[in-house]
Amino acid sequence: MLSYRHGFHAGNHADVLKHFVLVRMLRHLLQKEKAFWFVDTHAGAAQYALNDSTALKNAEFETGIGRLWRARDLPPVLADYVAQVRSFNTATGTDPARLRRYPGSPQIAMQLARAQDRIRCFEKHTSEIRVLQKNLADDPRRATAVAGDGFELLASVLPPPSRRGLVLIDPSYEDKHDYRRVKQTLADALTRFATGSYAVWYPQVMRREAMLMPASLHLLPAADWLDVTLTVKVPSDDGYGLHGSGLFIINPPWTLAAELRDVMPWLVRTLGQDAAARFTLETSAAPARRPGAPGTAPALRRPAVRSPARSPAPVRAPSVPRRRVP
Ligand SMILES: C[S@@+](CC[C@H](N)C(=O)[O-])C[C@H]1O[C@@H](n2cnc3c(N)ncnc32)[C@H](O)[C@@H]1O
Repeated sequence: MLSYRHGFHAGNHADVLKHFVLVRMLRHLLQKEKAFWFVDTHAGAAQYALNDSTALKNAEFETGIGRLWRARDLPPVLADYVAQVRSFNTATGTDPARLRRYPGSPQIAMQLARAQDRIRCFEKHTSEIRVLQKNLADDPRRATAVAGDGFELLASVLPPPSRRGLVLIDPSYEDKHDYRRVKQTLADALTRFATGSYAVWYPQVMRREAMLMPASLHLLPAADWLDVTLTVKVPSDDGYGLHGSGLFIINPPWTLAAELRDVMPWLVRTLGQDAAARFTLETSAAPARRPGAPGTAPALRRPAVRSPARSPAPVRAPSVPRRRVP
């Protein structure tokens, strides 16, 4: 029985990183006329109110999209993502100057995809899938949402008929087996659709599986990958809660590393909550380095030949949360 509901976290710093990169990846696919498929294995509800008791419980959006919404020096690359959030607020009839709603990944894809593109969503939570299906109901030819296990169902849509596609794998990690299943699912997906683009979201939390995850993803048989993390604060003393997140991307747009190098320092300054705020950027081959950017960690250079040499930081807290945010 799943209890995670994304409505509690919609628009937080992790959504900002994930959805900003999602917009960049969709924009890249839109450059060619040929249709693409967007597959969302863990789709959520697609649309979230930010003025209801769920979102307001911890008001996580205030330290996420709320800070970008009010920013006066938004970098152009991020402006495109914020424009999608504004357009969603406008389209739903609310005061466009006020941030009241937040678009999840299927909604962002709906806003950007063209008539020829397809959106395929999977969602296991029994009530979230109903909301998702309702939210996608206007355009059944373009978008469908299937109830079930996204890890298992992904194989059913690979490779997409057009052989162009982006798969977002964004589990809640409520189940600790999700960490292992992400890797297995990706390994299988690459045998079916090696040229596809994949984006995997993962949490920075004080649990062993989460800390081991990036290094294990780097060992997947993918020639071209990028791994970006945004840490917004020091881990809490009790080891609970999310202090940052990462996105592991296979076959990224060739422009993405440079865009991230430019914009991540701004995101660190804007979303950072204490002196531990930082970003890292690693790529499979080319160095992704911009030394001396304020408030950032130096990005790591990685050799083209894979090596499991880097080990993650030791686990600090043996008692760990079962959910992304308790
Ligand atoms: C982080 S949320 C998704 C957010 C969404 N991708 C977005 O960016 O707007 C994760 C979702 O995965 C769902 N979920 C958990 N386990 C799943 C599974 N095995 N298959 C499909 N969905 C699952 C949860 O119910 C939750 O709605």
